[in-house]
Amino acid sequence: MKKRLFSGIQPSGDVHIGNYLGAIKNWVRLIDQYDCLFCIVDYHAITIEYDPKEMQRRIFNAAAVNIAAGLDPEKCTIFVQSHVPEHTELAWIFNTITPIGHLERMTQFKDKSKQHRENINAGLFTYPVLQTADILLYKGEVVPIGEDQVQHVELSREIARKFNMRYGEIFPEPQEILSEAPRIMGLDGKTKMSKSLGNYISLVESPESIWKKLSTAVTDENRKRRTDPGNPDICNLFTLHKHFSKKEQIERINIVCRTAEIGCIECKKILSENMVEHLTPICLKYERLIKNTDSLVNILQTGAKRCRRMAGETMIEVKKKMGLV
Ligand code: AMP
Ligand code: TRP
Repeated sequence: MKKRLFSGIQPSGDVHIGNYLGAIKNWVRLIDQYDCLFCIVDYHAITIEYDPKEMQRRIFNAAAVNIAAGLDPEKCTIFVQSHVPEHTELAWIFNTITPIGHLERMTQFKDKSKQHRENINAGLFTYPVLQTADILLYKGEVVPIGEDQVQHVELSREIARKFNMRYGEIFPEPQEILSEAPRIMGLDGKTKMSKSLGNYISLVESPESIWKKLSTAVTDENRKRRTDPGNPDICNLFTLHKHFSKKEQIERINIVCRTAEIGCIECKKILSENMVEHLTPICLKYERLIKNTDSLVNILQTGAKRCRRMAGETMIEVKKKMGLV
């Protein structure tokens, strides 16, 4: 029996290369090794202001982009969180064993509360409890995520431990898996690449737009003139080269940037070409998938059916242990 892997992505905007390098690439890499469940977490996405008319498109978009990036629905289960009501049911139960103090420490809650001062709702606060329910409903043991989610997975371990101690052993303590790029910075070079900050390159960005965005992206800020030597170690775009460019190119840029033999524009052109080459197959596959809504509906319905069965079994076990039957 393969171990179970669970991960999620919010349908809150364009899927970007930070999501790809930080999480999706790892999902694809691990797909044969684990029994993989990938969830489009719409109930998480509604904790910030959104347009209801947009949500359906975003959900299909998230499904299509992820499949295009390599999540083969024949090899894993892809589903939408709200299609399996047990996620919120288990979250309610976990709410009753989660100390408020733990939730107050969550940096994502603190950041989002600052970003959305006019809408600091209870759902935003208990967001990590729902995330724990997502994972534990299927007894997920490994959770591939970007660095920003590590604290939430730590909390899921604490909640699992607490439940097991109070009511009896049911849940594993989930372990995060980080990629080699757990925190990709945005094109501003200052903040994490993020859907909400608009500092990203989408996974299905057009070649013209990739170049437009890269051409204005921040590099080593100490390099003011073309003749100044640059420092790849602190250049955000060099980090992207490491993921999109060929080994010889990376090695060469690492040298000629320091000696000012290459300027930022030329360096960006190489990156842009490599990124386009890497992302074009994903774009083409995405274009085909997004046109065929029936096939996406079918994939998501098949996924939800499997998950509802597993979720139902876990809830019976949970309720028995808690004396709720
Ligand atoms: P989200 O878009 O917040 O639902 O994130 C989906 C996955 O991408 C999560 O595992 C995140 O940790 C990961 N992720 C999001 N932004 C980044 C980033 N800038 N660098 C690396 N990983 C990221
Ligand atoms: N909170 C995660 C994010 O913003 C998405 C998510 C929801 C998730 N439930 C999960 C990730 C369970 C891993 C496991 O990226």
